[in-house]
Amino acid sequence: MGKWKEIYNSKLTSAEEIAKRINSGDVCASTCALGEPLGIVDALAERVLKEDLSDIEHHLLLTLKNNKYLDPQMVGKMKHVAWFTSGYSRKAVNEGRADFMPCYYKDAPKLWREHVEADVFYATVSPMDKHGWFTFGVAASNARAQMSRAKKIFLEVNEFMPRAHGTGIVHISEVDALCENHIPLAELGEAQINEKDKYIAKFIADLIPDGATIQLGIGGMPNAVGQQLLDKKDLGIHSEMFTDGMFQLIEAGVVTNRKKSINKNKAISGFAAGSKKLYEFLDDNPGVEFHSIDYVNDLNVIAQHDNFISVNATVEVDLIGQACSESIGTQQFSGTGGQVDFVRGAGASKGGKSFLTTYSTAKNDTISKITHQLTPGAHVTCSKNDIDYLVTEYGAVQLKGKTASQRAKGLISIAHPKFREELLFEAKKLGLII
Ligand code: COA
Repeated sequence: MGKWKEIYNSKLTSAEEIAKRINSGDVCASTCALGEPLGIVDALAERVLKEDLSDIEHHLLLTLKNNKYLDPQMVGKMKHVAWFTSGYSRKAVNEGRADFMPCYYKDAPKLWREHVEADVFYATVSPMDKHGWFTFGVAASNARAQMSRAKKIFLEVNEFMPRAHGTGIVHISEVDALCENHIPLAELGEAQINEKDKYIAKFIADLIPDGATIQLGIGGMPNAVGQQLLDKKDLGIHSEMFTDGMFQLIEAGVVTNRKKSINKNKAISGFAAGSKKLYEFLDDNPGVEFHSIDYVNDLNVIAQHDNFISVNATVEVDLIGQACSESIGTQQFSGTGGQVDFVRGAGASKGGKSFLTTYSTAKNDTISKITHQLTPGAHVTCSKNDIDYLVTEYGAVQLKGKTASQRAKGLISIAHPKFREELLFEAKKLGLII
C-alpha cells in the first residue's frame, strides 16, 4: 500500500464521527452546489437536534436539495447562509429562518480570506489519485479560499464526483478527516424552451461573431441561446457556470476554444451543474478546467478575451437601465452571482458585448418587466452604467452610449405592446423623453 493510501486509511472515518467534531457556534463553509458534502451535513443536522447544539452556521452557494438544515425546527440551532438562494433555500431566507450573503461572486474568495473566517471547511471531492490528490470536481468555486483559514478540514469522497482538471485540488496531507459517500450527483432538469425564448435567443445569436468567447448564465434563457449557436464557428467558453448547453456546443464542434485570446484549447469555468451526461463528459476531461472564481470572474481575465460575449437573465429593468436580477421586489430570489462581473468584463473586452434578457412580461402578461421605476425594495444588480444590451422577445436594444432619453425610448420599443403607452406616459412625467 502506498504512503498516501496509508494516510488516507488513517484519516478515514464516518460522516457521524466527523459531525461530532463540529461544535456549537462553529462557522462551517462549503463550496457551491454539488460540492456540498451531503452525508456530513445530514449527520450534522441530526447531531444538532439530538444533542441540542446551537448557533452553527452552514455557508453554501446554491443548495440543490431540500436539506434538513432548512427545516423550521433548526432555527437557533443550525442556520443556513446562502451565498445565492435556490428554489430549495428561498423560502427559508424569505421567512427569516436562513440568511444570505450579498456579494459579487468574484469577491467570494477574498471575503473568505479576509472577512468571514471558517472554523470548519467541508466538501465533496472525487476519489484520491496515487499522488494523494483529490479534486473539488465540479465545485472549485471558492473552495481553496474557504480552506485557507479553516481550523478543521473534512472531505466526503464520492466516486460520482467527476475528476476535474484545473486548480481545484486538495491534498490528503491537508485534511483532518474524511468519509466516503458514493451517491449520484443531483441533476438539474432540462430547461423547457418556448417560442419567446427562441426569439430572444435568435436576436442575441445574430450579434455573436464566429470566434467569440462566451459566458452563459443561470436560468432557462441562457440555455436557449446555446441552442441558437449551432451554426457558429470556433467559439470559446469562459464561464462561471458550465452547463449542458456548453457541453452540447463542444460535442457539436461549435466550441473549439482555438480562437480564444488566452487559455487556448480549453474551456474555463468555476463550477458546473446539469445532467449525468454532463458529469460524465467532465470526468478527467483536459479540455475543461475548473478554477477559483476570483480568477474566472476577474474583470481583467475576462477582458483579455477579444469579442467576449456575456448572456444573463434579469427580473426587472427600469427606463434608464437599472436591472434587478435577484429579487422580486423585497423577496430574495437568487443572488448577484457573477452577473455584474461578466457584464463589466465583457464591457472591457475589445469588441465585447453583454446581453441581459427578460420576457417583456410576467404573470400572464399582467406585469411589465420593463418599468418606469423598479418595484420598491428591488435589489439593483446591474447599475445603469454597466448594462449594455437588453433583449426581450420584441427585440434587442443597446443602452451603452445612449442618453437617458434614448434609453427610455429604446426600452419602451421592446416592452410588451400592451404596456408601451403607459410607459411612455410615465417616462414623459419623469422628464425622460426629449
Ligand atoms: N415581477 C413579478 N414576478 C416576476 C418578475 C417580475 N418582474 N420577473 C420574474 N418573475 C417571476 C416569474 O413569473 C417566475 O415565476 P413562476 O416561477 O411562478 O413562473 C419567477 O419569477 C422566475 O422567473 P424566471 O424568468 O423564470 O427566472 P429564471 O429561473 O429564468 O431566472 C434570474 C432568472 C434573473 C432570476 C436568474 O438568471 C438569476 O438569478 N440571475 C442573477 C445571477 C446571474 O445572472 N448570474 C450569472 C452567472 S451564473
